[in-house]
Amino acid sequence: MNTEYFVIDRDHPDPCILSRAADILRRGGVVAFPTETVYGLGANGLDARAVAAIYRAKGRPADNPLILHIAQIQDVEKLAREVPACARLLMDTYWPGPLTIILKRTKAVPDCTTAGLDTVAIRLPASRIARELIQLAGIPIAAPSANTSGRPSPTNAADVRADMDGRIDAIVDAGPCDIGVESTVIDCTAPVPTILRPGGITLEMLQAALGEVRWDRTQNTPENEAPRAPGMKYAHYAPSAPMTLIEGNREQRQKKIRVLAEAALAAGKRVGAVVSAETAFSLPAEVVSAVYGSQTDVKTIGNQLYTALRFFDNNPVDLIFAEGIEEKGLGRAIMNRMRKAAGHQIIRV
Ligand code: TXA
Ligand code: MG
Repeated sequence: MNTEYFVIDRDHPDPCILSRAADILRRGGVVAFPTETVYGLGANGLDARAVAAIYRAKGRPADNPLILHIAQIQDVEKLAREVPACARLLMDTYWPGPLTIILKRTKAVPDCTTAGLDTVAIRLPASRIARELIQLAGIPIAAPSANTSGRPSPTNAADVRADMDGRIDAIVDAGPCDIGVESTVIDCTAPVPTILRPGGITLEMLQAALGEVRWDRTQNTPENEAPRAPGMKYAHYAPSAPMTLIEGNREQRQKKIRVLAEAALAAGKRVGAVVSAETAFSLPAEVVSAVYGSQTDVKTIGNQLYTALRFFDNNPVDLIFAEGIEEKGLGRAIMNRMRKAAGHQIIRV
C-alpha cells in the first residue's frame, strides 16, 4: 500500500489538505494524525471494517478496545447512553484535552471498537489539527496510538512513518506533539471515578474537580491478570534492547546506574542509558545516553520520553538502564510508562 504523506502547518492548517485526509477517513481508510498527546491511528469508529484495518496495521490484539475521538461535547450523546454528573463535570473542566472518559455505550458503537465491552472510551482532543480533521470527517474517529503494538508511542511523524509506512492510507504531519504521553483514562461507570491509566490530566487535577477519585494502582502490576483497561496488561513501550529501570532518590539511583553501567562495560557490553541530563554527566563516556531532559523539568521529560526510548532503534546497544523520576503529577504517567517499557524489570535503591 502506498502511504500518502500530508504536511500541515499547525498554526495555519490548509483546509484543502485536511479535507483530503478527512475524505480518506470517510471512505473507510486509516489515517495517522497528531493529537496533543501522541500521534493516533484514525479510522471511522462506527465502521467495523475500517476499525479492523486499524487492528491489522498495528498488529493489535483484538481484546484491546479503542478510544473514540470527537470534535465537540455534544457528540457524546450518540455514543454514550448514560452520562453521570462526574463525567459531565470532567468534560466541562478538562475537554478539549488529554482526558479519556469511559461511559456506557450505545448500540451505535460496534463491538470491534470496544472489544465487546459494554462501555466506550471517548476523548475530545485539544489539538486543533485533530479536531478540525474529525469535524471535517463528520464521524467519531477511533484512534489508538500510531505505533506498532508493543512499541513506544510516536510523538512525531517520522516515528509514525518508521512503524506505519506502507501499512496505512495516509500520515498527516503537523510536527511534534506537545505533551508526549497519552491521555488519562478515567472510568466514570464505577461507583467512584477510577483512573485506569495515568496521563496528561493528573490525579491532582482530577481530585480538584471531583473530590474523590480512585487510582487503580493494580493497573501497574504484572500480577493483575484482568486489568480494567485491557491494554494495560500487554507489554508496551518496549525499546529495542532489554531495559532495567532504577528507582529511588536522585543520588542513590544515579550512583546505582553508574555502578551497573561500569560493570556491564567491563563485561564487554554496549550500554545504553535513558536518563536525566544530570545523570548522563556522571556516566562513563562509553555509555550511549538518550537524555530525556533535566530532573527539574517533568514536562520536558514527558515530551521526550518516547523519543529517548526510540533512540536505540538506530543506535543499537545490548542493554539499557533507565532512571526513574519522582512519582507525582505528570510523573505518575511517566513512571507508569517507564515500568512497562522495562517489562517490570525494576531495581529499587
Ligand atoms: O492520548 C491518547 O489517548 C492516544 C491519542 C491518539 O488519543 N490514544 C491512545 O490509545 O493512547 P491506545 O489505544 O493506545 O490506548 C487506549 C487505552 C488502552 O489501554 C485501552 O485498553 C483503554 O484505553 N480503553 C479503551 N476503551 C476502553 C474501555 N471501554 N474500557 C476500559 N479501557 C478502555
Ligand atoms: Mg497505545
